[in-house]
Amino acid sequence: MGQSVLTGPFPRIAGELRCGDLRAEELADRFGTPLYVYDLSWIRSRVALFHEAFSDVDHLLAYSVKANGNLSILRALGEMGCGADITSGGELFRALKAGIPADRMVFAGVGKTANEIGYALDEGIFAFNVESRPELERIDRVAAERGVRARFGVRVNPDVFADTPHEYTRTGHAETKFGVPWGTATDLYRWARDREHLAPIGIDVHIGSQIVEPEPYVKAIDRVLELVGELAAEGVELGYLDIGGGYGISYDDKPGMDVAALARDIVPKVKAAGLRLLLEPGRSLVGEAGVLLTRVQYVKETEGKIFVIVDGGMSELIRPSHYGGYHGIEPAGKQGQESATVDVVGPICETGDFLALGRDLPLPSEGDILAVRTVGAYGFAMASNYNGRLRPAEVLVDGADVKVIRRRERFEDLIRGEEGEA
Ligand SMILES: Cc1ncc(COP(=O)(O)O)c(C=O)c1O
Repeated sequence: MGQSVLTGPFPRIAGELRCGDLRAEELADRFGTPLYVYDLSWIRSRVALFHEAFSDVDHLLAYSVKANGNLSILRALGEMGCGADITSGGELFRALKAGIPADRMVFAGVGKTANEIGYALDEGIFAFNVESRPELERIDRVAAERGVRARFGVRVNPDVFADTPHEYTRTGHAETKFGVPWGTATDLYRWARDREHLAPIGIDVHIGSQIVEPEPYVKAIDRVLELVGELAAEGVELGYLDIGGGYGISYDDKPGMDVAALARDIVPKVKAAGLRLLLEPGRSLVGEAGVLLTRVQYVKETEGKIFVIVDGGMSELIRPSHYGGYHGIEPAGKQGQESATVDVVGPICETGDFLALGRDLPLPSEGDILAVRTVGAYGFAMASNYNGRLRPAEVLVDGADVKVIRRRERFEDLIRGEEGEA
């Protein structure tokens, strides 16, 4: 086991940032920059924390693949007993490739195509989390064509407001595109109840992301359990309650969700209802387990401003400009330099291409390595080739071991599949 289990991921030892037992600067020199580094021992400890907290109830951790879909990460999570929350045929393909059994997968998303539904039925996923009446009708048709029964739960919109850091990450209030409005969920179950090719087996909510208090979950679950009782009275006996993901982590000095406290609040309710509990954690399993190492190219001073221009930007990490996401940034090496207030920006031709604005940092020099923290979720997963950028390599560290789990892209990768490629 790496040292990071004891001290949190990516500790500073003798003034230098460590990834597992290795120096971050050494990894940057060896594998180049920008570079995503993940700490497997931290991911293990997060999965263990969830399993332990929810051990009193039959539960499944359906890891939200969208957070970080790297095959090696998925494989490791599958081996730790996790399933998958998938949102597309592509994520289903990835999760299967990584060896996650289909019967541990739930399929969410408002726009499932007939092909995706057919693929998921052929593979035998555990359940669809259904987001509308027309979607359920389509699932019924596709299942009938195959002569099978599609298991599903309705994703209900509990109309609970969860105070997430950005409006784009709130999903549980009435105005979002997600879920079935509270008042119509029962009709959907009634309609499905007697259909030959549909099996209503569960119910689902996802109220948002980066939520740090148990309270909105408790509110949503109380509402949903009432509905479960009403449905049972109408002969619809459900077997699972999926409470989605969104458990907050610590991006700055504020603590994330206390997972044990959340479990204490909700496990007795779910147990009393006799339901299997599904959770869809994404960032809370992998977010803190990643850093992005990026090398300073130039320090540019203009009137009243200092720009630290690094070789990673919005094409590698879009959270700062897309969600106003905060990520801690620090020099990977010893921090001797004097502090200055700087904008840390990338090389992309967009004013929105920044990693941090107005940040106090020890003023780095050309060639220094900066580490951007808490990027294990929605980091590489949202990376792009915009501006002809090559997507970075990803490495996985486990104590003193390090493995490239995705090679850095090459120029040829940029034109793959295009007419004139050869
Ligand atoms: C339905 C659903 N489940 C789970 C997640 C995972 O969220 P998080 O990574 O914040 O845990 C999301 C995130 O968008 C989601 O939409």
